[in-house]
Amino acid sequence: MSAGSFAGRVHVIDHPLAQTILTSLRDRRTDQITFRKGMVKVGRLLGYEIIRRMPVNEVQVETPLGTSAKGISIPDLDRIVIVNVLRAAMPLVEGLLKAFPLARQGVMAVQRVEEKEGVENIRAVRYFAKTPVINADDTVIIADPMLATGSTILEVMEEVRKAGSPKKVMITSIISCEYGIARVMSAVPSVELFTLAVDRELNSRGYIVPGLGDAGDRSFG
Ligand code: URA
Repeated sequence: MSAGSFAGRVHVIDHPLAQTILTSLRDRRTDQITFRKGMVKVGRLLGYEIIRRMPVNEVQVETPLGTSAKGISIPDLDRIVIVNVLRAAMPLVEGLLKAFPLARQGVMAVQRVEEKEGVENIRAVRYFAKTPVINADDTVIIADPMLATGSTILEVMEEVRKAGSPKKVMITSIISCEYGIARVMSAVPSVELFTLAVDRELNSRGYIVPGLGDAGDRSFG
């Protein structure tokens, strides 16, 4: 099953600024600080793309001239819970918080365990999770820069389920791959993905190819 099979739920963001930053993130010559700042900028842009798809209400306001003007409000804008997958998602979350400054935040630490060679043998083990109570009218945004095998996201989903039943769950990633998308989208029918690229390959150690390398190491050294 390819990422195309989930059309309508997979949003590949083609904003030229986001794609320019992605090019710099992929480039092996990009230094640590530029990389981390690039992740922050992309987090903000992904946040704005999520907002673009949120329901709006029409409202009327009175201007200082005493005249009525039509406008909109976004009722769900302040009902956001961001789940920060440590440590690689930290700069991405910093950017998302610029779009959703009132978001509540959950954090999760997940370790990859490679039992033997082969993508299907890579497991994600949760060793710390703290999530606020999630209400029925909340939107959950999971931040994980690389959607590779999908194991981490499936672990996060377990935690989200324990914390409540949100209105919507969105995943934000920088680069995703077909394998992980198919796995997550099939397991969690209503989840949506916002990503800058879908790469085809996943190597036997679970790294996305061409990808950008290890997102945590590149941000934090
Ligand atoms: N995590 C990363 O940081 N990079 C990959 O390519 C896959 C998982």
